[in-house]
Amino acid sequence: MIALLEKSKVLGEVKVSGSKNAFFPAVGAGIALGAEKIVIKNTPKIKDVFVMLELLKELGCEYKIQSSEVIINAEKIKLNDVSPENFGKIRGSVVIFGSLLGRFENAKIPMPGGCKIGKRPIDQHIKAANSLGYKVEEKEEYVKAYGTPKKEGKIKFDIKTVTGTENAILMSINSKVEIENVAIEPEVQELINYLKKYGVDIRLENKEDKILIDGTKRKKIKEAEFELIPDRIEAGTWLILAAATEGKLKIKNVIAEHIKAVIDVLKECGAKIKIYENKIEVEGSEKYKSVDLLIADSYPAFPTDLQPQICVMLLKAEGKSRIKDNIFPERVSHIWELKKMGADISLENGEIIINPSKIYGAEIEAKDLRSTAALVIAGLVAEKNQTILKNFELIERGYENFVKKLKNVNAKIEVFEDEIRKEEIIKGISNYVPYST
Ligand code: EPZ
Repeated sequence: MIALLEKSKVLGEVKVSGSKNAFFPAVGAGIALGAEKIVIKNTPKIKDVFVMLELLKELGCEYKIQSSEVIINAEKIKLNDVSPENFGKIRGSVVIFGSLLGRFENAKIPMPGGCKIGKRPIDQHIKAANSLGYKVEEKEEYVKAYGTPKKEGKIKFDIKTVTGTENAILMSINSKVEIENVAIEPEVQELINYLKKYGVDIRLENKEDKILIDGTKRKKIKEAEFELIPDRIEAGTWLILAAATEGKLKIKNVIAEHIKAVIDVLKECGAKIKIYENKIEVEGSEKYKSVDLLIADSYPAFPTDLQPQICVMLLKAEGKSRIKDNIFPERVSHIWELKKMGADISLENGEIIINPSKIYGAEIEAKDLRSTAALVIAGLVAEKNQTILKNFELIERGYENFVKKLKNVNAKIEVFEDEIRKEEIIKGISNYVPYST
């Protein structure tokens, strides 16, 4: 899919959809709790969600979608082998590991995938299962865990991992476990809320570095119902997009606290932001202050999932900015594409260095979900020519109705299904001159 973008100033209102990364632990909670029916409200219709639903089907579940509600019938869920191909399409699939251990004390998964943004091992997930007393069999193509988990145990992570923490919680659901050095992203905190709702004694402790879970006294349930929180990364993308295009947006269905680090950075740079209950208003400006060193790290720090997007905005800053992504230092594919547009951006000693630059329309290519969002912003900021963004379909993995939402706020974007039409598209643009450095 190709997106054709042109300089635009966004103006209007946009409503954020349910959180992609809260969907996976919601499914996981339902399975681990032993529910036969799992209802998930406010589910975004995005590709990663559909891949997860296909995987559930492979495990013997059925599902139906009613408006933004997904209803999963997990009565006949079994320990089937799931296809490595589907499993490898997304990262969220990895929570199937903890979910099945929670439900059956037995699980086998192929290697998970997701965006190509650097190494994404699962050694910490395996460490959690080992610590709980499961026997773990690790092969090149799959990981299998089985046996009887300890009734009381301790898991200590070497690093903070989001889905690793989710898996540790899910596999501990029938035991009393202390989990140390946990990730506390809002999606993890939501999983804690999901389980609390159904009688699991679970809480964050020790300045939020530790999770204590005791599922030994919980009752069996037949049905579980969860409502997904708004997607904080979608909300942050809109904030940055409005600021970068010098636009003005009302962003509805957002929990400001979940993107506090993003709001703080944008305010420091000079964007005007007003926070209301459930809504944020943002107004961009022509010039921004640079940031000396922005560090993307575990929550509550600035999220790695918005690092590519903020790079584009910082091109408009008056001085040099530096960004260090401590989570995915190899999440840099957008740099090479922004360079094709004339950006003075580089990677030096593991830091992204961004110098003030005007960017111009060019033919560029997205490599992963968040870089696609960043390059859309670039195409809306670029001077002179239109931008042709290839692999645009990646956006559908994580942003619901993105094109419709963009058009609603005056963004100039057209989407074409196939590469073959590229020549026609270019011919159709009378003033299209690819930018060359
Ligand atoms: C989650 O991935 C999100 N995905 C990612 O969202 C997000 O970028 C990431 O957390 C960081 O916030 C889902 O929730 C489905 P991690 P996850 O384990 O859990 C290393 C998006 O665009 N690590 O917290 O896979 C790892 O390599 C995506 O929506 C190990 O070394 O991330 C990374 O450097 C992409 N061993 C760091 O930890 C392990 O066993 C944190 O990764 C696990 C992780």
